[in-house]
Amino acid sequence: MASKPPNDSIDIRIPASCPAPISQILYHAWHHDLSGLKPLLTAPESARVQEPTTGESPLHAAVRSCAPANQGELGGGSDAATDVEEHAKAVVHELFMSGGIWNGLDDNDETPGCVAARLGLKGLYTLCIEAGVRAELLFGLLDGYEELESDDGEEDEEDEEDGSNEEVLGEEEGEGAKPEAEAGGAEEAAAVGEEEHVFVSKRAQGPNVNSEDYLRSNLTYSDGKLVDSAQNGVMMAWETSIMRASVDALLPDLPAGRKILNIGFGMGIIDSMFAETKPSKHHIIEAHPAVLEHINGSDSKFGKEWEAGGPSDGAYKVHAGKWQDVVPKLLEQGETYDAIYFDTFGEDYNQLRLFFTEYVPSLLEEEGRFGFFNGLGADRKICYDVYTQVVEMHLSDAGMDVEWQELDVDMKDLENEGEGEWKDVKRRYWTLDKYRLPTCTLMG
Ligand SMILES: C[S@@+](CC[C@H](N)C(=O)[O-])C[C@H]1O[C@@H](n2cnc3c(N)ncnc32)[C@H](O)[C@@H]1O
Repeated sequence: MASKPPNDSIDIRIPASCPAPISQILYHAWHHDLSGLKPLLTAPESARVQEPTTGESPLHAAVRSCAPANQGELGGGSDAATDVEEHAKAVVHELFMSGGIWNGLDDNDETPGCVAARLGLKGLYTLCIEAGVRAELLFGLLDGYEELESDDGEEDEEDEEDGSNEEVLGEEEGEGAKPEAEAGGAEEAAAVGEEEHVFVSKRAQGPNVNSEDYLRSNLTYSDGKLVDSAQNGVMMAWETSIMRASVDALLPDLPAGRKILNIGFGMGIIDSMFAETKPSKHHIIEAHPAVLEHINGSDSKFGKEWEAGGPSDGAYKVHAGKWQDVVPKLLEQGETYDAIYFDTFGEDYNQLRLFFTEYVPSLLEEEGRFGFFNGLGADRKICYDVYTQVVEMHLSDAGMDVEWQELDVDMKDLENEGEGEWKDVKRRYWTLDKYRLPTCTLMG
C-alpha cells in the first residue's frame, strides 16, 4: 500500500490523455450512471479496461468517487454519503456481473476493495469480497479441469489479454498502465481462467517460489530465521506467538498423552511446544534435506535420541519426505491423531486443500483438532478476507467446521520492507495486524 494517501480526484485518476473509449466507460462508472454505463458493458472486456497511466478501472472509479472530497460532484443531498454508496453498489454489482476484476491493481497498488477499505465504504468492500470469493471458488473448480488439458496456458492467457484489450481500446495499452498483476478472476464463468490465479499461502511466497525448487535450494538457519538461497523467509521467530496460540487451540489445557502430527519442521518452534506437552505420539513430517540435517545435528532436540526416548517404538518419529508421500503410508498403517498441524513452505493453497480434503478426515480422531498456518493472501487485507471465506467453504466441503480466533500481530518491527524483522529477507510476506487462527473439527 502507498504510504501517503493517494489523490482520489477525477482529474488525476482519469487524465485528459485517457483514450476516449476508456474514459467514456470510466466517467459513467465514476458518476454512477448505470443507464449510461450498461450499453457500454456489452462490448467484450469493457468492464476490465484500465486507464493507461493510472490503471483506474471502472470498478476503481465507481468506488473512488465516493471519497468524501468527490461527493459534491455526485450531487448528494442531506443523506449524501449513504445515497452515493447505494448508487455505487448498483454500479459495482453490474461491473462484477460484466466481468470486472475484483483484484486488479491500480498505480497505487490498490484493488477496488483496497480503495473501499481505505475510504471506510463497508458495503462496497463487502461486494468486492463476495466477488473475490466467487471468483476463487470458480478457479478452484477450474484448476482440476485445467490439469487434464495442458499446462502451457500462460502464453495463451497473455495473448488473449492483449487481444482483448486491443478490442476495446482500439490501440495498444499505454506504457504506464499497470497490468492486472494480481488479477484473480471475473464473475462470469466464461471469463474465469483468463487471469492468473495468484492466491498462495504465505509459505508459497508468490509466483517465484515453487516446491520443487525450494526443496532443492540451500537453506540458512540464522538468528531468528530460516531462509532459502534466494533469501525467502521460510520461517521466522516473530511467528512464535502464532505457534503458541496454535498449540493452545489444538490442545486446550495442554493435556499430556495426546497423539500429535506436525507437517513442516522449519525452526522446530511448534514441535518444541508440542513436545513440552509430553505426547504419547509425536510424528513430524519434513521434506527438506537441510532441515533434516539440522534435525539430526548436535543442537537439535529432535534427533535420534528423541526418537528413541518415546513411550513406545516409533511413537516419536521424524518422517523424512514430502507429506504427499508420507501421509498415505501413515494412513495405511492406521495412524490417527488428536492434533494435526500443517505448515509447509513453497506450496500453494491447492496442496493445503488436498491435505484437509483427502487426508485429515481419516487421520483425525473423532474429537481431534486440525490447524494450519493461515497465511493465505496475507500480504493484502482483502485477499486475506476473501481467503478466510474460501477456505471455510472448502473445509465445510471436506466435512469440517472451523472456528476463527483473531490474534493481534505486533507490527512494530514488521512494518517496512527490508527493515526490522525483514532485514535480509527478500519479501515482506506478512502485512496485517490481525492473524486469523483456524481450529478445525470434524462435523458431528
Ligand atoms: C514454515 S516452515 C514450518 C515452521 C514450523 N511451524 C515451526 O514452528 O518452526 C515449513 C517447513 O515445511 C517443510 N516442507 C515444505 N514442503 C514440504 C512437504 N511437501 N512435505 C513436508 N515438509 C515440507 C519445509 O522444508 C519447512 O521446514
